[in-house]
Amino acid sequence: MKVTVVGAGGNVGSTVALTLADRDFVKEIVMLDIERKEGDKSFYPSKGRALDQWQTAPITNFDTFLKGTVNYEDTAGSDVCVITAGIPRKPGMSRDDLLSINGNIVKSVTEELVKYSPDTIIIVVSNPLDVMTYVAHAASGLDVKKVMGMAGILDTARYRAFLAEELNISPKDIQATLMGGHGDTMVPLPRYTTIAGIPVTHFIGEEKLNEIIERTKSGGGELVGLMGTSAWYAPGAAAAQMVEAILLDQNRIFPCAAYCDGEFGIKDLFIGVPVKLGKGGIKEIVEIDLNESETELLRASENAVRSTLEDFKKLVN
Ligand code: LAC
Repeated sequence: MKVTVVGAGGNVGSTVALTLADRDFVKEIVMLDIERKEGDKSFYPSKGRALDQWQTAPITNFDTFLKGTVNYEDTAGSDVCVITAGIPRKPGMSRDDLLSINGNIVKSVTEELVKYSPDTIIIVVSNPLDVMTYVAHAASGLDVKKVMGMAGILDTARYRAFLAEELNISPKDIQATLMGGHGDTMVPLPRYTTIAGIPVTHFIGEEKLNEIIERTKSGGGELVGLMGTSAWYAPGAAAAQMVEAILLDQNRIFPCAAYCDGEFGIKDLFIGVPVKLGKGGIKEIVEIDLNESETELLRASENAVRSTLEDFKKLVN
């Protein structure tokens, strides 16, 4: 099995690579990024990070080879490609502020990837996530089942981590799903949140739960505020979990940005929905029941993603 991570000279991409390498089931991970010039000096961050991470193999015991490169030729025959390329948020920026720069990067990266791996599966991590997934799909010519975005696993992980801390319960026992775009309109679903199968409302009052939901929605921004740039450990781990589910055909149920063609009443849009993830990519969108207020929140999120997509289409035309 071969995996390519684009943008691997950065924090998110290199975290995807190391998380996967530590799991020790992939033969090779190609870490691609551009050459960076400073004055008359050239730097190769993806080569440096790959070399550093490969040198952890004898210590932490894995066989997965990490190859750093600036050449797309080296990505040939990848089963899965993860796109983390693009600029991250700075304090005060929304994910949508990254639209035109990242849109052009994601488009050209995707075109290069499918040239060398025409049958690959693509996981997009670049922001604004839902729209970047749309862009990657359009540029790839791949079946919609093979292109998806990573957001819901990260957003539910934040939600689950906040609940675990508040309730002093293992995060492993907290299950949740979440829908909508990867932004402030995301829709955490308390009705679909359980702790070891017990509804979360058994453990927590409405007010505290709402506080946690609000904190989840701005969870990425909280980290930008703390670090001056966007997060990488949880985003990287989340993307690695999607790669694992696909390559090991695990049939896991995760919220991912997937192409909706009428599901939940949403047409021609990539947006966060629960999916079954395994060999070949998205095997199914799980159409859970939504009540009136959940549907309303999802519509608002759909509208937000659609308007960012329209903005992008105007920018490129
Ligand atoms: C975040 C970025 C990765 O939510 O979108 O941290």
